[in-house]
Amino acid sequence: MDTLRESAAQASAGLATAVAVIGEAGIGKTRLVTTVIEELRHNGAVVLTSQGVDQVGVRLPYGLLTQMLRACVRQFRRTAAPRRAWS
Ligand SMILES: Nc1ncnc2c1ncn2[C@@H]1O[C@H](COP(=O)(O)OP(=O)(O)O)[C@@H](O)[C@H]1O
Ligand SMILES: [Mg+2]
Repeated sequence: MDTLRESAAQASAGLATAVAVIGEAGIGKTRLVTTVIEELRHNGAVVLTSQGVDQVGVRLPYGLLTQMLRACVRQFRRTAAPRRAWS
């Protein structure tokens, strides 16, 4: 958990980091990651997530990235100040 928190702190300082959470099914990987994500969001971080599927042909190339970008745009639309209509 501390490794994930440290990685997030580095990311917020502008340093790209990656952490692989590896282990047998049911060991608590998803729980660990979602717990830290909720903590980060609670503290005001923008956390984008993306999920892959292992069925060939279901996702477009760059699907993981486009999922995250779409979420980013949705979040921006929700939080951005409303714009004046063009006149
Ligand atoms: N630290 C924990 N304390 C209590 N229950 C946990 C803990 N970590 C995981 N679990 C529970 O164990 C089950 C499997 O966890 P999950 O995170 O889905 O595993 P994984 O993603 O590694 O397959 C879930 O029901 C989850 O709520
Ligand atoms: Mg899981």
